[in-house]
Amino acid sequence: MAQSTVRIGIVGCGSVMRGPYTNQIKRMLAAGSAIEVTAASDVDPLRRSIAEERFGEILFSTNYREVVESPDVDLVLVLTSMQQHGEITRAALEAGKHVLVEKPMSTSLSEAAELVELSKRSKGLLVPAPHVVLSPTFQEMSRRIHRGEIGQVLQARAIYGWNGPSWGKWFYSPGGGSMFDLGVYNVTSLTALLGPAQRVTAMTGIARPERIVDGEPMQVKAEDTAHILIDFGRDVFAVVTTGFTMQRYRCPAIEIYGSEGTIQMLGDDWDPEGFELWRNDVGAWQLFDETRPDWPWTDGLRHMVECIQHGQRPIITPEHGYHVLEIMLKAGEAGRTGQALPIESRFTPPSFLAANERVAAHLIHDPDNQ
Ligand SMILES: NC(=O)c1ccc[n+]([C@@H]2O[C@H](COP(=O)([O-])OP(=O)(O)OC[C@H]3O[C@@H](n4cnc5c(N)ncnc54)[C@H](O)[C@@H]3O)[C@@H](O)[C@H]2O)c1
Repeated sequence: MAQSTVRIGIVGCGSVMRGPYTNQIKRMLAAGSAIEVTAASDVDPLRRSIAEERFGEILFSTNYREVVESPDVDLVLVLTSMQQHGEITRAALEAGKHVLVEKPMSTSLSEAAELVELSKRSKGLLVPAPHVVLSPTFQEMSRRIHRGEIGQVLQARAIYGWNGPSWGKWFYSPGGGSMFDLGVYNVTSLTALLGPAQRVTAMTGIARPERIVDGEPMQVKAEDTAHILIDFGRDVFAVVTTGFTMQRYRCPAIEIYGSEGTIQMLGDDWDPEGFELWRNDVGAWQLFDETRPDWPWTDGLRHMVECIQHGQRPIITPEHGYHVLEIMLKAGEAGRTGQALPIESRFTPPSFLAANERVAAHLIHDPDNQ
């Protein structure tokens, strides 16, 4: 049976719209996906030509409301600066649309809580980026951990950083920062693998107070460096190292230490390059190459469209996005106050095992018993 076409309205025609999401839409069209970009918005009127070059003569408006309320839009793709995500997502859900919002879904926890509630009542699905749990490497690592191949999970480490964008002053303004932009990937991966966190503390700061952004000098007003300590309960701790402070590194993105072995993701969690596994019973490192080197971090769009067309629930949930945001906001607060703060929200982590394969004893939290 032919699928009904999902009509996409894009809000924010900047860097990720121009490259990664346009490429993802082209890949989906080439693979026969029934999608069409029908509208786009950017506060900068000069970006109309960027949208039209890519998608032809579509509705373009500098007022995002015209896109999210358009009867010709089913799915709103929110690709603006982070500080605008919450407001636009809310308007789109209220208009009954499906929403894929880049990370984080909001920069305020109370607004994010409203979005989660709204998504339960809304006709539309809400999928908050990042989409790291969709990568084949992540899913295979998750299966192996949950099957008990490294025994009981005891400890974890994660890292993601780079020099930081040379565009977009908002990255370095209040509501921006490296935790929301970069740490979000690690916090999403770790919580998806280990389950909900219970407590967080952090050291955060501004390591480079001055930068050249969009060709002009600016004072950095959002934290650009963080070491976040996450307590998963039962004395299982993880550390996330993130910042616009790193030129290069060669350590794994994610390291999970178990009572019988270690598993570590190579590359970055938004761009994995396979994984390595140490098992005491094997007694040697085993290297598993990336099975899909072309896996794109924009894959959430494909997943969401398929869920809409097949009436399925997305693997990526608003509750997980909210949990990740609570960890990041409280890590920021902990960085300022020196406290360790409790994490109150819970979510059900995804499981990629077949139902008859579940080995809950190896998990800190059993996804089936949340
Ligand atoms: N740049 C990356 O490598 C990358 C990777 C993954 C995810 N992301 C996420 O994607 C989003 C966009 O990043 P970017 O690098 O493309 O930023 P960008 O600054 O290049 O583009 C953002 C665009 O949004 C527009 N905009 C701002 N407010 C708006 C509003 N109210 N209505 C309509 N348009 C508005 C801006 O004019 C700009 O064109 C961010 O949330 C970022 O965290 C970026």
